[in-house]
Amino acid sequence: MDFERIFDESYERVLKIHHDNQSFFETFYKAFVAADERVAAHFTNSDMEKQQRMLEKSFYRLVVFYATNYADDYLEQVAMRHSKVALNVIPELYDIWLDVLIETVAEYDPHYNDNVELAWRLVLSTGITYMKFKHDHCQ
Ligand code: HEM
Repeated sequence: MDFERIFDESYERVLKIHHDNQSFFETFYKAFVAADERVAAHFTNSDMEKQQRMLEKSFYRLVVFYATNYADDYLEQVAMRHSKVALNVIPELYDIWLDVLIETVAEYDPHYNDNVELAWRLVLSTGITYMKFKHDHCQ
């Protein structure tokens, strides 16, 4: 099973589709903030449009990380910014992040099935492990 290809094709499909005039990343962000009050608390003063664009940009770096196992300086900076010395995003919130992302994929990908879900989880797992690890190892 080529999970990277399954992911790539699903990613292409979700980016093309709009629901109620909203893009995949717009819907994801709204759902993420609504999912848990600890998430909402982190974003009280944030410009959500800017935030969403940043995620879109950084998202593909996570995917590249899965394919190459190479964490570039950018990814390291993003991880540091989220770690306990800065934003202090606790590791648990990454699980919520991933679950909400999967729910959004289910909504946006017309070919969604178990293999699509597994492909997203596998492709993002390296990056999420990295972000969680850096929470406590950020010196
Ligand atoms: C792997 C998952 C994630 C990625 C790739 C990611 C990516 C990013 C990026 C690129 C930025 C902008 C960094 C900058 O301005 O230098 C950012 C900011 C931020 N992220 Fe994340 N993020 C992730 C998960 C999370 C989670 C789980 C939370 C928990 C609530 C979170 C909360 C925040 C907050 C509060 C900011 C700052 C917003 C602001 O400046 O107003 N992120 N994130």
